[in-house]
Amino acid sequence: MTIDAEKHGNLRRRIAELGPWFHNLRIEGIETAPDHFLGDYPSFKWRHFKEAVPADLKGWSVLDIGCNAGFYSLEMKRRNADRVVAIDTDPHYLRQAEFVAAQSGVDIELRQMSVYDIAQLKEKFDLVIFMGVLYHLRHPLLALDLLREHVVRDLMLFQCMQRGAETIPELANDYDFSERSIFDRPDYPKLFFIENRYAGDPTNWFIPNKAAAEAMLRSASFIILQNPEPEVYLLGCGERDCAIEIPSVVSRSNAG
Ligand SMILES: C[S@@+](CC[C@H](N)C(=O)[O-])C[C@H]1O[C@@H](n2cnc3c(N)ncnc32)[C@H](O)[C@@H]1O
Repeated sequence: MTIDAEKHGNLRRRIAELGPWFHNLRIEGIETAPDHFLGDYPSFKWRHFKEAVPADLKGWSVLDIGCNAGFYSLEMKRRNADRVVAIDTDPHYLRQAEFVAAQSGVDIELRQMSVYDIAQLKEKFDLVIFMGVLYHLRHPLLALDLLREHVVRDLMLFQCMQRGAETIPELANDYDFSERSIFDRPDYPKLFFIENRYAGDPTNWFIPNKAAAEAMLRSASFIILQNPEPEVYLLGCGERDCAIEIPSVVSRSNAG
């Protein structure tokens, strides 16, 4: 056996030991989750909104919350981000992220931490990535309020699974107590509560429709800058004039 074949075999074995994987990453050409139920995830999704993030992040600090095996952290390092701090509650995924960062030769500051504890970081970040975590939380608005107050300086890249109506209704600011029919509109902002499981996953709790996802973000004082891909948003916080040039991509925010 050549040294290369032996090295490849060891790598393949280590990747299998670290499984199961949610992120399909390529390490020396070996895929970590080639049979992912969503396909080549999250690469295929990222391809549709990667222009929403500036191509050069030199001088930026990034916080990746619910980093999993580190797909987005790695992409931010590839865009020259100065610092990437990545947190997740699950030590299994953090072990994968540590391995991926080492194999890729990049420095990612990994911490086992919940989004509910982010005030402990005592730092605001130029870009916060909060992808695919909100519907896993029992207290989604608390998380959004904590993010807005403690860690988001300028921008947040956000994704949340959505189910139900995909249109945005025109709503009045207030309704009389006797008004009931408005709540029967499928596109009235709604959160579907999952008492047991959805997709076999007992950690899915609240799944918003599109109107609810956007209303919750606004209610936590985020400003929707772009909706470049279904379920994905680039958010601002309007705290100070944003010195960062946001690439313009077609916004699908109020589609439908
Ligand atoms: C669906 S995966 C999304 C991974 C990645 N952000 C993405 O978009 O591909 C959800 C991740 O959030 C993590 N997570 C769940 N609850 C969390 C919490 N309270 N704080 C931080 N991370 C959490 C899970 O361990 C998991 O890695």
